[in-house]
Amino acid sequence: MKTYLVTGGAGFIGSNFIHYLMRKYDDIFVINLDKLTYAGNLNNLKDIENSKNYVFVKGDITDTKLVDSIFHKYNVDYVINFAAESHVDRSIENPMEFIRTNIEGTFVLLEAAKKAWLKGEQWEEGKKFLQVSTDEVYGSLGETGYFSESTPLDPRSPYSSSKASADLLVKSYFETYQMPINITRCSNNYGPYQFPEKLIPLMINNCLSGKDLPVYGDGKNIRDWIYVEDHARGIDLVVHKGKIGQVYNIGGGNEKTNIDIVKIIINTLRKLLPDGDIRKEAISESNIKYVKDRKGHDRRYAIDSTKIREELGWQAMTTFEEGIESTVRWYLDNSQWLEEVTSGAYEDYYKKMYIDRERG
Ligand code: NAD
Ligand code: DAU
Repeated sequence: MKTYLVTGGAGFIGSNFIHYLMRKYDDIFVINLDKLTYAGNLNNLKDIENSKNYVFVKGDITDTKLVDSIFHKYNVDYVINFAAESHVDRSIENPMEFIRTNIEGTFVLLEAAKKAWLKGEQWEEGKKFLQVSTDEVYGSLGETGYFSESTPLDPRSPYSSSKASADLLVKSYFETYQMPINITRCSNNYGPYQFPEKLIPLMINNCLSGKDLPVYGDGKNIRDWIYVEDHARGIDLVVHKGKIGQVYNIGGGNEKTNIDIVKIIINTLRKLLPDGDIRKEAISESNIKYVKDRKGHDRRYAIDSTKIREELGWQAMTTFEEGIESTVRWYLDNSQWLEEVTSGAYEDYYKKMYIDRERG
């Protein structure tokens, strides 16, 4: 029986990962350590909350005492560190929490794992610390080329710099102490349970609530989209088969401009909403508004996934056409989830981030 300490498991990718684990394995135990920031939502895990293989701990990864106590109470085999401040726009407005959670939090987890797993000179068998990182640590691409694992780090936002800092700390624990680690760097995820501050769910929510569709700059920035379950499967493979100390890129192989994404969402919603639904007629490309660009906006991300494909046999299984349709369907079928996360603080966030952009 393996015990996973999943941090940030109430967020978008973390909750999808926990669902993936619970579907795939009977003989595991999952501890979900999450602070429940605006992005953490226990409703994402409603169906498993009473499972005997699962426990939720509300807390902060920077809290050394709490993290140590988890390692004392449980025989943790794997740490999968998803917990982070994850939204680039927020990091531009207010970087402090990014430095604290993403860098300091990773350090606290590394130290706690080291204390628990290093016996004298010897690491306990079968342990692993997996840092969930991002392609953004590589910076921005021009029209050609791909990020490989040997692309130099060149992060450009407070968010990506904090993630790159954390990656370097994790790498240092391998180089210095031979800690059993892996780092995964994935491209843009989409799928169920994604908070509507990110491009795809924000556009779905704005379409459904009759708002403008704010596209930054010229709309031609490119992202490499991956369905979240493909990411979860990649992480699971790296946990079990990844060579110690190695970095693995995970990419969707699916580059799209932002404006194309917005148009696809419009068309998918118009296809899935029934005739007669008043929202359907209001959803149109005329709602697209080009707004002030993101500061330091990375132009293009594109991942070379050759290493994880050839070494571990991973590949993305969900085509973008299938993934986007099931994602849009999920948001339509889970309108209460969407209403709950967009009530209260979300409106203030939206006003703060978008009203000035529209004027600009
Ligand atoms: P998210 O914002 O949806 O979720 C983050 C979770 O971490 C939330 O549940 C939040 O409550 C929790 N959290 C935040 N600060 C915490 C703290 N101090 N202690 C404990 N928990 C805390 O993020 P996501 O999109 O699911 O991303 C998860 C991870 O994957 C992040 O590390 C991110 O950098 C990485 N990543 C994301 C993407 C993407 O496209 N979203 C792509 C590649 C990598
Ligand atoms: O590449 C992986 C990264 O993908 C992750 O590490 C981050 O955690 C995740 O947030 C995501 O970062 P991006 O900045 O690429 O995602 P976001 O959804 O914020 O934006 C995607 C693109 O869409 C980007 O070019 C900015 C643009 N955009 C975004 C929003 C929210 C718009 O044009 N309008 C918007 O309202």
